[in-house]
Amino acid sequence: MTLDLDFVRAQFPALQGEWTFMDNAGGSQVLRTVAERVSDYLLTTNVQTGASYEPSRVSTARVSQSREAFARFMNCDPGEIVEGPSTTILIRFLSEAMTGRLQPGDEIILTNTDHESNIGPWLKHEARGVKIRWWRCDPETYELDLAELKGMMNERTKLVCVTHASNILGTINPIRAIADVAHAGGAELCVDAVAYAPHRAIDVRALDADYYIFSIYKVFGPHHAVMFGKRDKLLALDNIYHYFFDKTRVPHKLEPGNINYECAWGSIGAVEYVEELGARAGAGEGRAAIEAGFAAIASQERAVSGRLMDFLQSRNSVRIIGRTSTAIADRVSTISFTAGERSSREIVEAVDAARIGIRYGDFYAKRIVEEHGLTRTEGVVRVSMVHYNTLDEVDRLIAALEPAL
Ligand SMILES: Cc1ncc(COP(=O)(O)O)c(C=O)c1O
Repeated sequence: MTLDLDFVRAQFPALQGEWTFMDNAGGSQVLRTVAERVSDYLLTTNVQTGASYEPSRVSTARVSQSREAFARFMNCDPGEIVEGPSTTILIRFLSEAMTGRLQPGDEIILTNTDHESNIGPWLKHEARGVKIRWWRCDPETYELDLAELKGMMNERTKLVCVTHASNILGTINPIRAIADVAHAGGAELCVDAVAYAPHRAIDVRALDADYYIFSIYKVFGPHHAVMFGKRDKLLALDNIYHYFFDKTRVPHKLEPGNINYECAWGSIGAVEYVEELGARAGAGEGRAAIEAGFAAIASQERAVSGRLMDFLQSRNSVRIIGRTSTAIADRVSTISFTAGERSSREIVEAVDAARIGIRYGDFYAKRIVEEHGLTRTEGVVRVSMVHYNTLDEVDRLIAALEPAL
């Protein structure tokens, strides 16, 4: 399954310039179709939804179509889609909407490998007597141990929160197995999928996650985000909108204020793009096309990760932070490292001059960096690639990194 990289790169106007973008886990480049859709919405149907006049009907239909597109993207029903401005805000909303059910003495399990978006919103319940328990990774391998999670579960555990892929390690966590442990203990599972969604097909039914959230600006779209929630779970959440919204008003009770309509309409372009990649690989349409599109994406990512990983592992000074395997099932193409005691900032600044965008720091997954002595090197160097990155770009990066390592 190979990608037509000429076709792929032609869809992203920013890739026609002189910069190489390898900070995609911070935010990917945007498809031309997405930008055109956003513009078209604003210029032709920018009215309030829900009225009887024709332009409003069109606007309403466009927002509904975005829920349908995300439902295809995640393999769920449109009525299970909640939209919002960012993953951080959606998880805050989710946390707020759980206030009524979380009682003093209840427990929430968080990991120290997560981005703060799936940590901070849950900590606020501590003030109401909810106990936070930490599922910590192994300090050498950075792996989360499922047996440890099993041992932490008890009848007070109400929620387990975990990232599908770490935005630093690139590690893919076994969400289905984690869901099975959480559910066997009577708890729900909230998954941050921001660092996973640009890389692999999502099937929330197969994963059995209760809540599953990601940001579209990392998946070739605009600054917009989406949350899947199992329908019965969404119905059971508190209303966080106006008093006259009742609990049955899903998704609106969980979307206080209006969602961004132009971004909702624009985001469909990202879903259709993956479907187009799948169709070009001969897979028809809908879910089959999405899965085939991501299979092609994964194989290109595997190629670029393999090339970079081989180089990094050939350098004595380099320590990979996370797995060294580049197998498709093991990791996404986000690779972080340190080089002895060298400052990660200096390494990245040396690469800037080659017009290649990479990045150093903690990427708001601060706990993993702070708890493992990685602040000493000003965090890690992170190279986060997606399918539009080429082997030539990796070779240019290697040439720029070599003198700095
Ligand atoms: C893993 C992960 N989770 C959450 C976020 C936050 O996403 P947002 O900016 O949409 O709040 C990021 C952003 O970098 C991330 O990488």
